[in-house]
Amino acid sequence: MGIGAAVDESSLAGIVAAVLTVSDSVVAGDRKDESGPQAARILSEAGAEVATQDAVEDDTRLIAARLRQMCDHLESRLVITTGGTGVSPRDVTPEATERVSDRLVPGVAEVMRSVSLSKTPQAALSRAVVGIRGKSLIVNLPGSPQAVKECMDAILPVLPHALELIGGHSPH
Ligand code: MTE
Repeated sequence: MGIGAAVDESSLAGIVAAVLTVSDSVVAGDRKDESGPQAARILSEAGAEVATQDAVEDDTRLIAARLRQMCDHLESRLVITTGGTGVSPRDVTPEATERVSDRLVPGVAEVMRSVSLSKTPQAALSRAVVGIRGKSLIVNLPGSPQAVKECMDAILPVLPHALELIGGHSPH
């Protein structure tokens, strides 16, 4: 960035990110994953380096294991999940995220739900949570590509500062 250039508040430059699609049908090969690539594209456009992109079944233990690996071993500072946030019996992404999180950040999930509710009343059915594990932020997004776009647009402005604080790089 040159001297005097405007600071892009939504920039994720320098952030290593991971995307985890949570879906039995994607893993089984019965459905093409559109939401994971959508999340990865938005992250890349915001300047993040999407180092890992993967899919896992709707299984609490398996999801938690992948989240731990992405945060601890692959050192992804931002982990985006898509899918499994709803109310059907196999939707367990929030439980897996809570299991591996040190602390929750309800405000970020509230922003997503409130913006989403202005688009569709079905947004009330997403139980998405946002959690901190070590120096990583885990964000649950609903499973549709449209929801991924709407939710990412809603939280992008707050992510750079959140990641800065979680990483301990800011006095605020
Ligand atoms: N949020 C936004 N912004 N846009 C959407 O289209 N779909 C909703 C909701 N949140 C939606 C949304 C629907 S239909 C459901 S069932 C829940 O997210 C949970 O989706 P999931 O189980 O695929 O995670």
